Amino acid sequence: MTDEEYDDLLLDAIRCAQGAGEIIMSYFRKKDIGIQAKHGNESDIVTAADKASERYVIDFIHGKYPEHSILSEESGRENHDSGYLWVIDPLDGTTNFSVGLPNFSVSIGIKQNGETVVGVVYAPYLGELFHAVKGGGAYLNGERIFTGAKQRLDQCVVATGFPVDKDVNPDNNLDNVSRVLPLVRGMRRLGSAAIDISYVAAGFLDAYWEMNLHEWDVCAGLLIADEAGAKHDNFRGDRNISVVVGSPHVEEELFAILSHDRHV
Ligand code: IPD
Ligand code: CA
Ligand code: CA
Repeated sequence: MTDEEYDDLLLDAIRCAQGAGEIIMSYFRKKDIGIQAKHGNESDIVTAADKASERYVIDFIHGKYPEHSILSEESGRENHDSGYLWVIDPLDGTTNFSVGLPNFSVSIGIKQNGETVVGVVYAPYLGELFHAVKGGGAYLNGERIFTGAKQRLDQCVVATGFPVDKDVNPDNNLDNVSRVLPLVRGMRRLGSAAIDISYVAAGFLDAYWEMNLHEWDVCAGLLIADEAGAKHDNFRGDRNISVVVGSPHVEEELFAILSHDRHV
């Protein structure tokens, strides 16, 4: 693909994210947003806004790129023959959204032959649009962003999240929280993995980790973080995607703490 073709894909991913964001906003802080528990788990929910946002993005892809494959949180996977795969979280941060908290986003990554080449994370309430194209740097609302460069963990503000099976599985990240909390300046739980990772890219957070995530949570964000100079690793092999991302020195220190032998 040429640079111009990547730019066209990026513009389409941005259009999709903005259109989906507008749809989501039409449900925000409204009375009946159709909250449903997935698989009977009240910690894992979907709303009418998730579904409407996803429908909009998938219809756009079907219309313009019918040969591209799709992986989207609520509808699953649709395979076609081209090497392109759109990885979509139509509403990341549904729990925040469901109670009227403003941290939520649309996350759209595009992979070509397994490599992420475009990433867009759009937080419609906050008016923050992050984007990156492979090799072209990372941007927030059109301005280039770079990850932080801190060397001392005790000066860092970090974020994490908790797995949706926390009600039945004691392997719920609290062991990591107790290890990291005393070592850092501050710890946050903001509630949208895609925004957390994008905030690491912009240097608003020094690092973020979470286990048991899925491809749609991290695909776009990790390209944005990589392009901003961040480092990331999978810190566990047994819990889906367990990502730690941060400015390089901080990420290495956290990775060492998170990949310890556990006894839960
Ligand atoms: C969730 C958010 C949250 C993270 C959860 C994810 P969803 O995604 O990213 O921050 O802690 O693990 O499942 O369900 O709102 O798309
Ligand atoms: Ca998500
Ligand atoms: Ca979601």
